[in-house]
Amino acid sequence: MKQILIIFLAIAVVSCNNSNSKEQTNKNMSSETNYGTFDGKEIKQYTISNAAGMEVSIINYGGTVTKIITPDKNGKKGDVVLGYDTLSGYLQTGNPYLGSLIGRYGNRIANGKFTLDGKEYSLATNNNGQSLHGGNKGYDKVVWDAKKLPGDSSLELTYASKDGEEGYPGNLSVKVVYTVTTDNALKIEYDATTDKATPVNLTNHCYFNLSAGADSTILDHELELNASKFTEVNDVLIPTGKLPDVKNTPMDFTSSKRIGKDIDSVKGGYDHNWVINKNGTTLEKVASLYHPASGRLMEVFTTEPGIQFYSGNFLDGSLKYTKNGQKYVVHAGLCLETQHFPDGPNQPSFPNTILKPGEKYHQTSLYKFSVK
Ligand code: BGC
Repeated sequence: MKQILIIFLAIAVVSCNNSNSKEQTNKNMSSETNYGTFDGKEIKQYTISNAAGMEVSIINYGGTVTKIITPDKNGKKGDVVLGYDTLSGYLQTGNPYLGSLIGRYGNRIANGKFTLDGKEYSLATNNNGQSLHGGNKGYDKVVWDAKKLPGDSSLELTYASKDGEEGYPGNLSVKVVYTVTTDNALKIEYDATTDKATPVNLTNHCYFNLSAGADSTILDHELELNASKFTEVNDVLIPTGKLPDVKNTPMDFTSSKRIGKDIDSVKGGYDHNWVINKNGTTLEKVASLYHPASGRLMEVFTTEPGIQFYSGNFLDGSLKYTKNGQKYVVHAGLCLETQHFPDGPNQPSFPNTILKPGEKYHQTSLYKFSVK
């Protein structure tokens, strides 16, 4: 009897070791997992990380950031972006671009029209008669080619956008590289070239909530923007061309302010482009977002002249397949989209958004995480 017991225990130990090693293997392989199929193509989720343990997951559908895992002030890790548990979430009608790459032109183009070299172009009008975030099938709804770069911290995505796609002129070759840096930032580098003049404005549409699921809204987050002006908009969110001063208005985030403080005096909530206080195109700090309860701080750096602060005004709790079934209610997350100004192709006084053959589009943005 004793012998049988010893043999049984030995088998149990061996099989336990085996399952451990299987788990270990899975863990190593978990940096690339199957996520379903779309348009007959395989969708995969890639996880990139740094030695400090910051992890970012991205799927090649829409080049979408599905998770950003960072610690709070007590070292407890949490996921600070909104998203879904499965691909079905990202594919659902009305998915408001959670985590995705945006192109060919981020934000709005008035009436979906612009004129270039004497020719008028018409885009899909998918938002109150305006063209938003690249049209009906923007870069958020296409499958990108993905390649992990050496080391485990960068993922390269490429997409060949055809001449005439969604109405835009020119074949545009786009490359986006996501990197988790050694100092806990998610760096996003965007590059593009074209064979015909075309508007280009690329960005990312992560919805942040630094409470990592603890708070249902971002109203208690504190925001600072290095911007003393914003682009005033009409009632369909197209810039009027005026750049009002933010001083002593609800739009003033020149020093850190609780987002909930003045939000009720802004019709519909915040959904505006702030004009960053900078002249050049170097990488500069433009925003800080702080969540006092968790101690998480996110600093945003960019080479771009503008930043869209969108306070998740159109979230209404109706999205399906959300992470852990959480209800994404109004203001459940916020976007800080680094960009050129909305409607740039129709507003000559705004920074140029037209890319010509032979030129190189480049923008870098960085979301850096720490605690205080
Ligand atoms: C826009 C919002 C829009 C949202 C879509 C934001 O970038 O500024 O107006 O509703 O994207 O989720």
